[in-house]
Amino acid sequence: MKQLVIFGSSNILSDIFDCALANNLPVSKIVLHLPEQPGERDIDLQQRIQSWGALGKVPEIVELDAFEPADDELYLLGPTTPTRTELERAILQRFKLEFHTLIHPRAFVSPLAKLAPGVFVGANSVIGPGATLGRHVFVNRGVTIGHDTHVGAFSRIQPGSNVGGLSRIGQGVTIAIGATLIERLHIGDHAFIGAGAVVITDINAGALMVGVPAKFKKSVMPSA
Ligand SMILES: CC(C)(COP(=O)(O)OP(=O)(O)OC[C@H]1O[C@@H](n2cnc3c(N)ncnc32)[C@H](O)[C@@H]1OP(=O)(O)O)[C@@H](O)C(=O)NCCC(=O)NCCS
Repeated sequence: MKQLVIFGSSNILSDIFDCALANNLPVSKIVLHLPEQPGERDIDLQQRIQSWGALGKVPEIVELDAFEPADDELYLLGPTTPTRTELERAILQRFKLEFHTLIHPRAFVSPLAKLAPGVFVGANSVIGPGATLGRHVFVNRGVTIGHDTHVGAFSRIQPGSNVGGLSRIGQGVTIAIGATLIERLHIGDHAFIGAGAVVITDINAGALMVGVPAKFKKSVMPSA
């Protein structure tokens, strides 16, 4: 029987656990290397994984330096923040492993869509025909991705967002909770679309856009 190993810790670990459980996939280990800094109102990792005990075995916490891959394991990244790119690099420098694509059984992924390794698709999300999701794209709960839209690697799309068809979303883009993007847009790498925004124009790389219709607020381009 396969087991899921999650690299890194964050607030969305319980969503990953939930989705794994719905796929009859036990989570055996959390491997820590670059844990996200717990913020105000975050739930401590120990407390979080203990709460899973009612539904399965509590996973072991292992440091990356002490970790060795095994044949019965599937792998996924735990954090959804930009630290994920560094984490993937650190893992692939040490180990030759493939990442798993984890889809909630209550999501609908068109058979004409293509999902790269490491993609997560949460419950009640719909990925349209011809859509392509790059490596480690994180699609939270209740999201729709329109037909023929490409979402670049490491982008995250938060609950209840709707992305129209025929668009190109760059790499490392965040589409926050409840945002709407009309069709045929080009969104630059590392752009951040604020909660509830309605995007009706193309967006430059690294721009934070907020409001209805979405307007430029500031640059959030990560430093090189
Ligand atoms: C964009 C976001 C990160 C705020 O960014 P920030 O850099 O902390 O921005 P600030 O709070 O300093 O606000 C900067 C300005 O933008 C405005 N603003 C921020 N977020 C806004 C939003 N979502 N809609 C409209 N205006 C917003 C603020 O009112 C402020 O305006 P001002 O300059 O006129 O005072 C936040 O709104 C957001 O969308 N978070 C993501 C939520 C999410 O999806 N979480 C995951 C849930 S699972």
